[in-house]
Amino acid sequence: MIFDKLFNKINSDGTLAMLQTDIHSHLIPGVDDGSQSYNTSIDCIYEMANLGYTKICLTPHFQTHKFKNDEDDILKRAEELRQVIADNKIEMELTVGGEYLVDSGFRNRMETNKFLKMNNQYLLIEFSFNQAILGVNELVFELQNLGHEVILAHPERYIYFHEHPEIPKSLKDQGVFFQSNINSFGGFYGKRTLKESYKYIDNGWTDFLGTDIHNHLYLEALVDTCKDKKFRKMLDTHSFLNNTI
Ligand SMILES: [Fe+2]
Repeated sequence: MIFDKLFNKINSDGTLAMLQTDIHSHLIPGVDDGSQSYNTSIDCIYEMANLGYTKICLTPHFQTHKFKNDEDDILKRAEELRQVIADNKIEMELTVGGEYLVDSGFRNRMETNKFLKMNNQYLLIEFSFNQAILGVNELVFELQNLGHEVILAHPERYIYFHEHPEIPKSLKDQGVFFQSNINSFGGFYGKRTLKESYKYIDNGWTDFLGTDIHNHLYLEALVDTCKDKKFRKMLDTHSFLNNTI
């Protein structure tokens, strides 16, 4: 079939160009555990342009205790990074969101309802990696009632999801979007997470792919994962919502 051939041709070129947009990254220098210097951010963004990305959403951590970022400060720093990227003649659109940890202070955020969102539409949240959140479905329902479209970051990485697939299933049933990390498919977070990442694909649960890039280590893993045959085949046979953002 002609269309199949065309589709394969577009997607088998070893890049991530079909995604267009990365929706999860930690490339604003010095604001969280991500990039700690402009040089690191420049290297990562340059290589991501080579991989075919045209837009990156900067999503620094917002946590109550560890990374106490302020939305206005993040917007200012993102603008400074845009200037540095332009000065280095790298073509990349940089937008701003956040990765909000659902922790003890999250309800206070909900009261002020001040969030940095992708496209002013999608709210990227993450959970604790090893402890299930009580009342998570009610919380998501409240977020949706506040007008947020909720994306859950890297569901394949939450340990309690492995043994309790009814939790992610219930979130999917509620209309939560799932974003898997590309490096999960390359084994960067271990074999169990790798296995889970394909299980989510097989279930039809993965709406977005993200790099969750922090530094050169993540970048090298990303480039390696892009060469992985199984991952390339998965890209050839599935589509994601990245290019709608
Ligand atoms: Fe992240």
